[in-house]
Amino acid sequence: MKRSIAEYPLAGRRVLVRVDFNVPLDGGRVTDDTRIRAALPTIEHLIGQGCPVVLASHLGRPKGQVVEELRMAPVAARLAELLGRPVATAGDCVGPAVEAAAAALGPGEVLLLENLRFHAEETANESGFAAQLARLAEVYVNDAFGTAHRAHASTEGVTHHLPAVAGLLMTRELEMLGTLLGEPRRPFVVVLGGAKVSDKIGVIEKMLAVADAVLIGGAMCFTFFKAAGLEVGTSRFEADKLDVAAGIAAAARGSAGDFELPTEIVVAPAAEAGAPTTVVSAASMPADQMGLDIGPRAAAAFGARIAGAGTVFWNGPMGLFEIDDFAAGTRAVAEAVAASPAVTVVGGGDSVAALRRFGLEERIDHVSTGGGAAMEFVEGKALPGVEALLDRE
Ligand code: 3PG
Repeated sequence: MKRSIAEYPLAGRRVLVRVDFNVPLDGGRVTDDTRIRAALPTIEHLIGQGCPVVLASHLGRPKGQVVEELRMAPVAARLAELLGRPVATAGDCVGPAVEAAAAALGPGEVLLLENLRFHAEETANESGFAAQLARLAEVYVNDAFGTAHRAHASTEGVTHHLPAVAGLLMTRELEMLGTLLGEPRRPFVVVLGGAKVSDKIGVIEKMLAVADAVLIGGAMCFTFFKAAGLEVGTSRFEADKLDVAAGIAAAARGSAGDFELPTEIVVAPAAEAGAPTTVVSAASMPADQMGLDIGPRAAAAFGARIAGAGTVFWNGPMGLFEIDDFAAGTRAVAEAVAASPAVTVVGGGDSVAALRRFGLEERIDHVSTGGGAAMEFVEGKALPGVEALLDRE
């Protein structure tokens, strides 16, 4: 385990906190503040310790250029509202003016630096840039779990210059996602969806090794069906991943856990609201229709597995849930996960968006703030932003 801010002497010390405030914006307004709210416990802890707090984040992918629409000001405004105290902004994230602003902060005062990715040195993990960031504080805290899979100056480079500890969000993410790979309460049921097998190969393989059941939904099941020689009609599938899908299915047959594909599919002539839908057996999909959701029997079977689980990990929707006509399968899985007595962990942007749409987010034990980072972690990969932190004593 990594040392957290609760286990490190911080009172009154100036702290540089890497947060993941990479949030969606619309017309200069934050449209989803989940990641900002998730960092509040760490920021409030540091304020409570009398620390001057310097926050740093990226926003979007400006690729080393100043992009006006990707300035941090709207994020600072939302953070100030949530904290109920002023949040100062800076014109840049490094340099003499920023160093002076950081040095002038009083105990419990908060400064949010300008977008780290306005400098190409950030993603290049350039050592001089990391040293400049380090000059802003005495201690470094990483609370940006969502960016921990990136070896950037603000996630990895800076740790070569300052003592580096985990924030409270980072700690909780590592604990909850760590449960999945450690000693999950059994049966451990994994539900994976989404469009592409290619995005999930590593996760499926890892989960087949550690879980009692891996249930597959979403458009990626059509790649598995196609690989098994079934008709998939006009459904989306990955023609260049048929071998991979066949390989996974073969490996699954030899593994101790179960591997389940949906037995029933909702098809329609087109992926459009109002298109006439039909429920068909997965083994007899019509050639002129497209699969857009798992059918009710498949959803019920997945739901029963989830209800009887000791631990559930869910990532990826079961169908095109953004359109109501194709949302029932994802809704059924989301409701089953919310109602399950199991330890429930949900990771990835689309499943989180689905939970929010159905008003179920509060009923999940842990909703990860990481998309790519959560997937890499669950795959068993080391995350550079985590590896770089001090170990617990
Ligand atoms: C994310 O939104 O997944 C993280 O903030 C990382 O962003 P990136 O994929 O642009 O590195």
